[in-house]
Amino acid sequence: MKKIMITGACGQIGSELVMKLRETYGTENVLATDIRKPAVQKGPFETLDVMDAKRMNDIAKDFGADTLMHMAALLSATAENNPLFAWNLNMGGLVNALEVAREQNLQFFTPSSIGAFGPSTPKNNTPQDTLQRPSTMYGVNKVAGELLCDYYFQRFGVDTRGVRFPGLISYVTPPGGGTTDYAVDIYYKAITEGKYTSYIAKDSYMDMMYMPDALQAIIDLMEADPAKLIHRNAFNVTAMSFEPEEIAASIRKHLPNFEMDYDVDPVRQAIADSWPDSIDASAAKEEWGFKAKYDLDAMTVDMLKKLQEKVIKSA
Ligand code: SER
Repeated sequence: MKKIMITGACGQIGSELVMKLRETYGTENVLATDIRKPAVQKGPFETLDVMDAKRMNDIAKDFGADTLMHMAALLSATAENNPLFAWNLNMGGLVNALEVAREQNLQFFTPSSIGAFGPSTPKNNTPQDTLQRPSTMYGVNKVAGELLCDYYFQRFGVDTRGVRFPGLISYVTPPGGGTTDYAVDIYYKAITEGKYTSYIAKDSYMDMMYMPDALQAIIDLMEADPAKLIHRNAFNVTAMSFEPEEIAASIRKHLPNFEMDYDVDPVRQAIADSWPDSIDASAAKEEWGFKAKYDLDAMTVDMLKKLQEKVIKSA
């Protein structure tokens, strides 16, 4: 990875990935692209709608990219509100990006998700290789995406790689349209209002990961020896699994008066119920040394500290 182009660079993962890659590989070597302009522009940026295959190809060529990270996609709840648009954007954007990687011989990353599992998948310690019959449009897109990336590797030799991310928690960009986003909102509300109404029900376990671990996982996978990768495009990765009461309890260790109640959203709850309670990340550990540093309490300490600083700055 020497010249990296990113799509969806203003999204939840993209905005932090760009910063991390620029620190690691140099600002001028990381080209951010997005359909929206970033609020602050500090390095190379191009406006790009991922449905515009020609422009994506031209931008990658002009930049001299050797790596393409395709992050532009709709998340689970937004996709459920507009399934046809989600299919067109999530699949159309991905196939355009894979074509650019094929034509220009680029190393390629795109994330899959725990959303690629469904109600018939084993719920606990979900294996790397298992039944995948998702019941959401987002899940259908993710399974098809995993297969498409495998296909581009097997058929055309494109160096495709990917992980199945759990819910990602971060303080830089507000979440947009995911089911796991309650676990981000809760920290904002804990600081600004001292209370939170959860749209996910008590006892709903989902896998989660703090953003710094997610970014490191992307870099570690992309830098891994290809000869060791058996599951190229769909590695289970996770750092923790919790339900709403457990994250609230972790917050109360620092904000003892924090209160939480429930107003369950049936759409997002149905999505959460169709996903695993906890997944097994042993293939990622064995094949490329995946390791997460943050557990729930370590993440809570950092999230509360960073958000408090952010709220003070914006006041
Ligand atoms: N965080 C994502 C979502 O909830 C899962 O991949 O949509």
